[in-house]
Amino acid sequence: MSIKVTWYGHACVGLEVGEHRLLVDPFLTGNPLAAASPDRFEPTAILVSHGHGDHVGDALEIAKRTGALIISNFEICNWFQAQGHDNVHPQHIGGGFHYPFGYLKLTIAHHGSSLPDGSYGGNPCGFLLTAEGKKIYLACDTGLFYDMKLIGEEGLDLAMLPIGDNFTMGPDDALRAVKLLQPKQVVPYHYDTFDVIQQDPHAWAERVRAETDAEPVVLKPGESVILE
Ligand code: NI
Ligand code: MN
Repeated sequence: MSIKVTWYGHACVGLEVGEHRLLVDPFLTGNPLAAASPDRFEPTAILVSHGHGDHVGDALEIAKRTGALIISNFEICNWFQAQGHDNVHPQHIGGGFHYPFGYLKLTIAHHGSSLPDGSYGGNPCGFLLTAEGKKIYLACDTGLFYDMKLIGEEGLDLAMLPIGDNFTMGPDDALRAVKLLQPKQVVPYHYDTFDVIQQDPHAWAERVRAETDAEPVVLKPGESVILE
């Protein structure tokens, strides 16, 4: 079976694994690049990497409408329960869990995580999904870290890396990340949404092609990569 990975703009990613539909960091309302409105999504699970508004986004509204399971760190799961959504599964950095859709591990991310109302959001994370014999790494919001080498040792089919700079890795460090992670394919994200994170993804893709063995894939919001 294949996995369909769709970029909806900024850091919002859809992962279709069989009948399971995962939605990651659903920042759609107020996102100038959003490829779809929140009411179009019927996820079975929503993954939230950290508490910032451009990641929590429409998660609560979508979760309440659909009953989707929210997967995040312990503190953010508590926050969703306090907002009236009980269907959560808390994990934490370095821990994985076997869900019906696959094995999901939370990885470190160097960033912040306060929630929109100022609540404590624990530590930010990335996601490493093993499903259908494939491994997908979503770095989410982070600076470069050398432990990406350890994540890469797992053998990545696809990595999604922020290239926006200012709040996360920029193009230079994202290129170094590709060298540490050594994924088969790499998709840049978390750029162009705001003035301070404008980037040229095609110029970055050329550097990836020239300096690494990874295949860069530049998506437009709404476009997908299919892993099979
Ligand atoms: Ni953030
Ligand atoms: Mn962000």
